[in-house]
Amino acid sequence: MADKDDITEGKDFGLGIPQDYKPFHVKGANALDWGMQNRLARIFNPESGRTVMLAFDHGYFQGPATGLERIDLSIVPLIPYADVLMCTRGVLRSVIPAAVPKPVVLRCSGGQSILKELSNEAVAVDIDDAIRLNVAAITTQIYIGAPHEHQSIKNLIQLIDSGNRYGIPTMAVTGVGADMARDTRYFLLATRIAAELGAHYVKSYFVEDGFEKITSACPVPIVIAGGKKLPEIDALTMAYRAVSEGAAGVDMGRNIFQSDSPVAMIQAVAAVVHKNEEPNRAFELYETIKAELNK
Ligand code: 5RP
Repeated sequence: MADKDDITEGKDFGLGIPQDYKPFHVKGANALDWGMQNRLARIFNPESGRTVMLAFDHGYFQGPATGLERIDLSIVPLIPYADVLMCTRGVLRSVIPAAVPKPVVLRCSGGQSILKELSNEAVAVDIDDAIRLNVAAITTQIYIGAPHEHQSIKNLIQLIDSGNRYGIPTMAVTGVGADMARDTRYFLLATRIAAELGAHYVKSYFVEDGFEKITSACPVPIVIAGGKKLPEIDALTMAYRAVSEGAAGVDMGRNIFQSDSPVAMIQAVAAVVHKNEEPNRAFELYETIKAELNK
């Protein structure tokens, strides 16, 4: 039964103590609504401010890419070590156990294959379905300078507007066409366009010279793709340099799931991203975990 007396008998009003206020830890996200911030806080660790996203959406235009032939065998064992999963709705529904507590960033574009022009994409998921899947964010690519640049930007705008209606953030991927330069000028342009249009965070590639300018000029967080498989020490060095130069983490695929020891590699990457572990130390960690697993 409701106790009416309690209404007037409160004691601990904390008089004189201002209500606690902490700025939200995700760059550029202070003015967002609670649901949007809550989803971003599931993606970006509140302690480090960073994220290790595991990307395995490659099949949406590449089919069964090396390492992704059997996602149940190659990716599901990595889930405990990832902060966030990035995949298509087809793989999410068919392979990823619904009980996993990890946030999902849903690939919401498609419509082309690796055999054709990569920029020729459409929005390939309705926002209703993204909500049904309880995702933390949605994502599409923009292909700046490519034949279907305009359509790809329209896809991003559509996704941002539909996500905004329901408090779901959008990650913009800066896609690069097969023959396009991956230089600082290109990513300065592409990441800033994505942020200006309202993307809540942006995925870019790391560039050797001037990456810090890209993260500085982008008013929302940047995470880096891993790109083609590199030797583990090189991939860890790239991740280290990226976070040292302002990236808020990685959205990495091939350099994890194509590694000799994916379970060891994802933990080494996490040490770099969340603990600023130096590349040589992170590589030692990789070798140690790999050796343990091979015993
Ligand atoms: C493809 C993507 C991939 O998720 C992205 O390329 C990340 O994977 P990798 O680290 O293998 O490059 O967005 O369009």
